[in-house]
Amino acid sequence: MGVTIVTSPEAGAQLAARLIVDLVRSKPHAVLGLATGSTPLPTYAALADAVRAGAVSFGAVRGFALDEYVGIDPAHPESYHQVIRREVVQPLGMDPALVRVPDGVGADPAQACRDYDDAIRAVGGVDIQILGIGTNGHLGFNEPTTSLASPTHVTALTAQTRADNARFFDTPEQVPTRAVTQGLGTISQARTLLLLANGENKASAIAAAIEGPVSSMCPASLIQLHPDVHVIIDGAAASRLTLSHYDRL
Ligand code: GLP
Repeated sequence: MGVTIVTSPEAGAQLAARLIVDLVRSKPHAVLGLATGSTPLPTYAALADAVRAGAVSFGAVRGFALDEYVGIDPAHPESYHQVIRREVVQPLGMDPALVRVPDGVGADPAQACRDYDDAIRAVGGVDIQILGIGTNGHLGFNEPTTSLASPTHVTALTAQTRADNARFFDTPEQVPTRAVTQGLGTISQARTLLLLANGENKASAIAAAIEGPVSSMCPASLIQLHPDVHVIIDGAAASRLTLSHYDRL
C-alpha cells in the first residue's frame, strides 16, 4: 500500500491528478470509477486544468459513479447524476454517453444493480477507482457491517452518514434514507484504488482503514486486501496513524 502524506489538500489533488493523467495518456479508453463528495473535487479541478492545458483528453474515457441516492430525482442538483455531470463530465470534456451513474429511481432496483456490475465487467473493469471515505469508514455508501464481497446493491444510510451529508440539502430531513452503491466486492475488482482524505474528521476512519483489522465495521479496511492501493492524505487525516512518522512509499 502506498500512503503519501501531503502538505495540503491541493498538493494531494495534484498528485492524484497526475496518476490519473498518466493512466489516460497511456490508455485513452481507460475506465475510471468516480467518487462524489467534497474530497475529490480539487482532483477533478486539477484534471480540468490539465484538459484545458491540452495535456490530456478524457473524450474516450469511460466512467462509473460509485453511488446514487434512492428516490432522488436525477435532475435534483444534489443527485449524484447532477454532481457527476457538473463536477466531472462537463469540466473534463467526457462523453456523457460513456459515463454511468447507478439508477436510484427505477422500478427494479435489484436488476439495475446487477446490470451495473455487468456493465463494468463488459468494458473490462475499472482501471482507477477514485475513493473518498466517510467519517464512519464507509466507501461509496457501503456502511459498516456491509459484506466485504458485496456486489452493487441498495443500502440504508446510517444516521451518521445522513447527518454528514445534510450540508448538501436545505434540511436534514431531505437527505435520502437509502442509496444504491457499488459494493465492496465491486470496488475491490478495480485494478487500482486511489483513496483520498483530508482533515481531522477523517483521521479515525483513515487509521482504522490502514492500520486496523480488516473488518466490515470499517468498510475501507478492505484496501488492505487489494494489491494496488494509493492513499493520499493530508497531515490532519494522517494524525491518528501509528506509523505516520516514516515514508511508506
Ligand atoms: C458520501 C459519498 C462517499 C464519500 C463520502 C465522504 O457519503 N457517498 O463516496 O466518500 O460522502 O464525503 P466527503 O468527501 O464530502 O467528506
